Amino acid sequence: MLNIMTTIISCFLVTLLSFSTNLNAVNNSNNNNDNKNTKAMKFELMQLPYATNALEPVISQQTVELHHGKHLNTYVTNLNKLIEGTKFENADLITIVKESDGGIFNNAGQLLNHELYFNSFTTPGQGGNGPTGALAEAINSQYGSFENFKKEFNDAGAAVFGSGWVWLAKDANGKLSIEKEPNGGNPVTKGLTPILGFDVWEHAYYLDYQNRRADHLTEIWKIINWPVVSERY
Ligand SMILES: [Fe+2]
Repeated sequence: MLNIMTTIISCFLVTLLSFSTNLNAVNNSNNNNDNKNTKAMKFELMQLPYATNALEPVISQQTVELHHGKHLNTYVTNLNKLIEGTKFENADLITIVKESDGGIFNNAGQLLNHELYFNSFTTPGQGGNGPTGALAEAINSQYGSFENFKKEFNDAGAAVFGSGWVWLAKDANGKLSIEKEPNGGNPVTKGLTPILGFDVWEHAYYLDYQNRRADHLTEIWKIINWPVVSERY
């Protein structure tokens, strides 16, 4: 009887000790998280200038929520971690994209790319029918017409092999060019200014268009916020 009582008491004490240890681990973990949370994050996830369902049916609410809330958020988190303690810790985003490589470049490039991308859109029918002002003139002058330009741009986007971007960019003289970039590339690394970029990573369109990237590229023109994009020229 005494042996049974001793065994029961021993088990109780071991369980109590284990619970206490786990509780301490949780508390320590919470303290660490508190420390992390109180430290200011250099880059933050941008606010979308529209509701997540505003781009439907061109881009679904689910795609916008995953693309902005998960994919872009991960780039922001990764970049903040990667630049800690490096020469880029206090640099602005464009400088980081121009001067970094490896993981820092990939995440900084994607942060810059997606900020331009998400800010280029509005509800279908609300963004005008095409470029305006000096951008419209430059497109007509160089590509013959807006329709011709769209075809060249879409062909370039469809031809990007794997994940990447297609960009309309301008040089210092205002000359336009269509730039294909792999992965997180942005025309700023070539000394160009990005005007409009379409994301051709599968995460941008696969839920809505599956493998039909070309169809997605055709539809996306319906949600361009032309006053915003034309102002970038
Ligand atoms: Fe993306």
